[in-house]
Amino acid sequence: MKEMLEALRAASRQAIDEAVDLDALEALRVKYLGKKGELTAILKQMGGLSAEERPVMGQLANQLRAEIEAAIDRQRTELGRVMLEKKLEAEALDVTLPGVEQPSGHKHPMYNVLDQIKDIFIGMGFEIVDGPEVELADYNFTKLNIDEGHPSRDWTDTFYFTKDGRILLRTQTSPMQVHAMETKPLPIRMIAPGRVYRKDEVDATHSPMFHQIEGMVIDKGVTMADLKATLNLVVEKIYGKGTVTRFRPHHFPFTEPSCELDIQCHKCGGKGCPTCKGEGWIEVLGAGMVHPKVLSGCGIDPDVYSGWAFGMGLERLAMGEYKITDLRLIFENDVRFLEQF
Ligand code: PHE
Repeated sequence: MKEMLEALRAASRQAIDEAVDLDALEALRVKYLGKKGELTAILKQMGGLSAEERPVMGQLANQLRAEIEAAIDRQRTELGRVMLEKKLEAEALDVTLPGVEQPSGHKHPMYNVLDQIKDIFIGMGFEIVDGPEVELADYNFTKLNIDEGHPSRDWTDTFYFTKDGRILLRTQTSPMQVHAMETKPLPIRMIAPGRVYRKDEVDATHSPMFHQIEGMVIDKGVTMADLKATLNLVVEKIYGKGTVTRFRPHHFPFTEPSCELDIQCHKCGGKGCPTCKGEGWIEVLGAGMVHPKVLSGCGIDPDVYSGWAFGMGLERLAMGEYKITDLRLIFENDVRFLEQF
């Protein structure tokens, strides 16, 4: 019996030391120490031993069990160490290699200009409002005092969705004046930037989609002097202090009186140059006093309240600020262009 235990000791030690993974080790544990294992089989023969031999063999067998358990634990630790080593080796990073640069984008130059304008108006207590690009002809035209038959309602100028001409892509941000007057408590100070659409062929200065910023103030006792003072201030903030402006009479159906605001060309100081196309002046926006008919159509009493409004093109402003000569560059999203800002 002693020989059998010695043989098991030698065989198990070698097998355990050579186990290549945890599964193999577990199989050996079952093989030697399990219920049907080799050590159990030897112990079952203890019945044939004498009373003196039995405790001695029992002690030897217990000792062997402890030895085998310890050997298995040792090998398990060793296998874990080897596996970890292999894993670390496989995942090793060479921290001395140069990194891969992740290019990061930035805001589009036109939106930088828009942010600047928003800041100016927020600083004067205006709120920024947003509205639908798919609009009712009622809001884009009728409520703005633009009658049926007005040339801007023409099918050749406007993208209509329905044959009856009821639904369209807004051709201007001015319908936001009506939305604001219909929904907001008085007084109102708002700007509404957004996309507008016209059936224009694409060239260096035209696109069927472009951006406008609408602005409007409605309060008691608002006059044309407020319009001029506010817009002069805005122009100075955008183009610099001392920028000379000119308010030229104009016509819009929804303002009365109406005007266009020009700035004196900052390039030539008014003498005439390619930037101002020889005019000495650059047109910046259309504006005027909100027409009494528009006010009353929105439920505001024109005898109590008055207001002014303006609309300006955002692309033109950005082109002036960044000296961009072709409108198409703003929409093409060519990284070689955008990277320059
Ligand atoms: N909506 C006009 C345009 O697109 C501009 C404008 C806005 C004029 C507000 C007066 C008042 O030309």
